[in-house]
Amino acid sequence: MDATVTKIKPDIGAEITGISGHAFVAAGVAADAQRLLDAHGVLIYRDANIDDDDLKAFTRLLGPVHEFPDVAVVSLDPELSRSASVQNGTFYWHIDGTMVEYPHQITLLTCLEPANDGSGDTEFANTYAAYDALSDGEKAELEHLQVRYSYLNRQRLKQGFMTPESIESLKKMPPRDRSLVWTHRTGRKSMLLGSQAGEVIGWPIDKGEAFLGRLLEWSTQPRFTLRHHWTRGDLVLWDNTGILHRAHPYALESGRLMHRTTVDSDQHVATVGGGTGDYVA
Ligand SMILES: [Fe+2]
Repeated sequence: MDATVTKIKPDIGAEITGISGHAFVAAGVAADAQRLLDAHGVLIYRDANIDDDDLKAFTRLLGPVHEFPDVAVVSLDPELSRSASVQNGTFYWHIDGTMVEYPHQITLLTCLEPANDGSGDTEFANTYAAYDALSDGEKAELEHLQVRYSYLNRQRLKQGFMTPESIESLKKMPPRDRSLVWTHRTGRKSMLLGSQAGEVIGWPIDKGEAFLGRLLEWSTQPRFTLRHHWTRGDLVLWDNTGILHRAHPYALESGRLMHRTTVDSDQHVATVGGGTGDYVA
């Protein structure tokens, strides 16, 4: 059966039907996914029903896998997921891997069990489109700004979702300074926003927080966003180089269970811990 692709919104999202299971492990399917990700940012494969082995094989066809070579379990249940204690942080807008050496290129998430009470949607926001829609003057204002990304910035600590144990473990991830505007090989530009973006370097912290908050508000308005309600068997891919995401809150008792893999960039990030400049991926 051939795949059918349906655009969801002008600025974000495409739904794909007609591919499932082992059929994902094909160079043509991966090449189509790359092309569709560039065009739409978020891909929703309905009835994908992909198992872990095929998910890993499909992920490797999409690019390098450095940080998470295996399938990660996404759940609030500490018996199932090693990162359960920090999952509440995913209820806030973020980009995966802002603190690691290789920024994540693509995140893949497949639904084994949707929340049994209808909660736990995932929402996406396209910062490529949000950047493009800024005025030239606004773009010029952003061009040279550097931002400090941290799991333990002031606004995240204020949100109060972290336990003392998770704060201790996140201290192992030092802040990183990076350009706010991410210029890609293609020349396209996105913005690294979200809850880990806590300060504008060289600005008073209040001013930087307020500025980043306004940009986040701009980027997450309805025209740039897509909210996905999960059905068992869905596989969702997003271009993590410019798509923000967040989970809508769900409870441990909901049974929500996802498996995740990650494709990393094949480029090192030039700005590490107080570095100076742009990076290209
Ligand atoms: Fe995430």
